[in-house]
Amino acid sequence: MKLDGKTVLITGASSGIGRELARQLTEKNCRLVLIARREERLQELLKTLPGKSEHVYFICDVANQEQVTAVCRKLHEDGITIDIMVLNAGVSRYFLVKDFSVEDFRYTFAVNFFGVLYFIEQLLPAMLQRNAGTIAVVSSLTGYRGMPKAASYAASKAALSNFIESLRIDLWKTGIKCVLISPGFVKSEMTGDSSSPKPFFMDTDKAVQRIIRGLENEKTEIHFPRRLSWLAKFSRLFPDKFYARLMYNKRKAE
Ligand SMILES: NC(=O)c1ccc[n+]([C@@H]2O[C@H](COP(=O)([O-])OP(=O)(O)OC[C@H]3O[C@@H](n4cnc5c(N)ncnc54)[C@H](OP(=O)(O)O)[C@@H]3O)[C@@H](O)[C@H]2O)c1
Repeated sequence: MKLDGKTVLITGASSGIGRELARQLTEKNCRLVLIARREERLQELLKTLPGKSEHVYFICDVANQEQVTAVCRKLHEDGITIDIMVLNAGVSRYFLVKDFSVEDFRYTFAVNFFGVLYFIEQLLPAMLQRNAGTIAVVSSLTGYRGMPKAASYAASKAALSNFIESLRIDLWKTGIKCVLISPGFVKSEMTGDSSSPKPFFMDTDKAVQRIIRGLENEKTEIHFPRRLSWLAKFSRLFPDKFYARLMYNKRKAE
């Protein structure tokens, strides 16, 4: 797929992966629709982007369906057609069994899962009409198997990964592509704390280069870093008790 001249909507564009993606996509001559809650961050980013007058930004909480609907309505009114959506906004909270709270899950799913669905609900009909478009969701390697202290995050990403895989089947004979992006540990605000170990920690620009190469090569899944992602995939074959003991011991050692 040629990215040149495409209009790309990015959620979570104010920092980390989304921000770097915006930067690298302008080098590919893309027009951007940037979405996040922190306006000053988006304004500051826009100032640094080449062709800044072409790009637009919206302040929007992706967990708020009305706000997402309003953004998509405005795009429609302004005649902006989205070629590619990269639904990247996400949050991660440490999960501690002793503080078990359903509210934690509601919050994480509201952003990581429903925040994706709201955009697809709004933008898919136009893609179906044109029989063209790309829906890319940023999930995580934690979507493959349960992880310690990450029950709400891992569950939301597993739901997201499974969702996009299902949608891909339903859209198989159409011109719409569904892309699953599964990063390992990448430098960003989310991984800013230095306390927990982050094997194969990747620089943001390298991670985004992988994403862009994957989009250009029309991959169904873009996963990295290679060694960790293959290990995560392979771990699905591990017997459950073996996997639980392995992760438990790993956590104890931290
Ligand atoms: N970094 C990693 O190691 C890693 C690994 C696997 C997957 N991921 C996934 O990659 C994606 C990007 O994360 P990141 O690492 O780049 O973290 P980040 O630097 O914390 O960026 C998260 C982005 O999401 C936006 N966001 C959060 N809640 C939002 C909401 N309610 N409405 C709108 N925007 C919201 C934030 O913008 P505002 O706060 O301005 O709204 C920010 O731009 C996430 O989905 C994350 O789960 C990251």
